[in-house]
Amino acid sequence: MGKYKITVLPGDGIGPEVISQAIEVIGAVGKKYGHEFALEEAMLGGCAIDAFGVPLPDSTLEVCKSSDAVLLGAVGGPKWDTLPGNKRPEAGLLGIRAGLGLFANLRPAVIYSSLKEASPLRADIVKDGIDIMVVRELTGGIYFGKRGRYQDEKMGEAAFDTEAYSTFEIERICRLAFEAAMKRNKRLMSVDKANVLESSRLWREVVVRLSKEYPEVELSHMYVDNAAMQLVRNPVQFDVIVTSNMFGDILSDEASMITGSIGMLPSASLGYGTLGLYEPIHGSAPDIAGQDKANPIATILSVSMMMKYSFGLDEIAKKIDTAVVNVLNKGYRTGDIASSGIKPVGTKEMGRLIKEEIIG
Ligand code: IPM
Ligand code: MG
Repeated sequence: MGKYKITVLPGDGIGPEVISQAIEVIGAVGKKYGHEFALEEAMLGGCAIDAFGVPLPDSTLEVCKSSDAVLLGAVGGPKWDTLPGNKRPEAGLLGIRAGLGLFANLRPAVIYSSLKEASPLRADIVKDGIDIMVVRELTGGIYFGKRGRYQDEKMGEAAFDTEAYSTFEIERICRLAFEAAMKRNKRLMSVDKANVLESSRLWREVVVRLSKEYPEVELSHMYVDNAAMQLVRNPVQFDVIVTSNMFGDILSDEASMITGSIGMLPSASLGYGTLGLYEPIHGSAPDIAGQDKANPIATILSVSMMMKYSFGLDEIAKKIDTAVVNVLNKGYRTGDIASSGIKPVGTKEMGRLIKEEIIG
C-alpha cells in the first residue's frame, strides 16, 4: 500500500467542478487498490488574486513542492482580464511551472472510437483513429524570454518578446520526447521554424545530434506552419511531436480539436523527478461555470496520467482509462461531445458514472 500526497488546485471557472469529480475518482481508486491519497487544497489563479492579491502565493508553491503530485483545474476569467501581465491568473500558471521545474508538457491527443463523429475532420482523414503525443517545452522560449516596451524614434511605442533556447534546454526536452517515442511507435516529429529563426536552427542541430543515441526512432522535421496544415490534412502520420513552448501551445490546441473535444484531453507537466502537475488542457470556460455542464473527463484522465507518471501505478491508470471508454461506449455524453438528439449528462453524473465503472 502506497501513501501519496496530492496538492489540489481547483482554480477558477469550471475548475472546481471538474476537480471535485476527479477527487471522487481518486477516492475510489484509493479504496479499491488500498492506497492512501492525502489531498491538500491550495489556491492558484484568479481565486488567489482575490484572496491574497497574487496569482501564485508563496504558500501554494511551498505546499506543491512538498507533495508527490499536483492536480490543477483551470485558471483565469474575464474578472481578471484587465490586470497587467505579471498579475494575471495565467502568470500563476507560468510561475508554478517554472517554480516546480516542470520543463516538459505531455499532451496526448487521442480520438475515441465511440467519438469519431465528434471530430470535425472527415472520416477518410480520421481513418482508424488519431493518437498523437505532443511534447511541449514548458519553461523556456518566448514565454520566459526578455520582454519589454520602448519608445521607437520613428514609429512610437513598441514592445518585444524574445525566443531563446540553450542547447541544454533543447536536449533535455528532446531526450524526453525520444524516450516517449521509444515507448510508442518510434516516430518523432520535431517541429520548428528553422527556415527563419536562429533558435530553431540550433534546435534542429541539437535534435539531430541526439538522434544518434536513438537509432530505433525515426526522426523527421517539419516547419510549424506546415505542421499546422498537416495536422488537419493527414493527422494519422504523427506519433510523437516535440516542439518549443509557443509552437507547442498552439499545435496542442489544434491537435486536441481534431479529436472532437478539448474537454476530453489531459496533460502532464514533468521535470527531473517524479513530481508532476496534471491538468486538463481546456481552460476555465467561465461561460458555463457553476452550471454542471462541464466535461470532467479531461481532469479524470489527468488523474490517470498522475497515477502513471508520478506514482508508477500503471494498473490504476489503465483502470481509469478503461472506465472512461466504457462509459462512452454505453452512450453517455456531456454537452460538449453529445451529437444532436442525445440528451447530455451533467458534470456530476458523468463523474459518478466513471466512478461506478471503476468500483465495478
Ligand atoms: C496552456 C495555456 C497557457 C499557456 C496559458 C493559460 C498561460 O494556454 O496551458 O496551453 O499558454 O501555456
Ligand atoms: Mg494553450
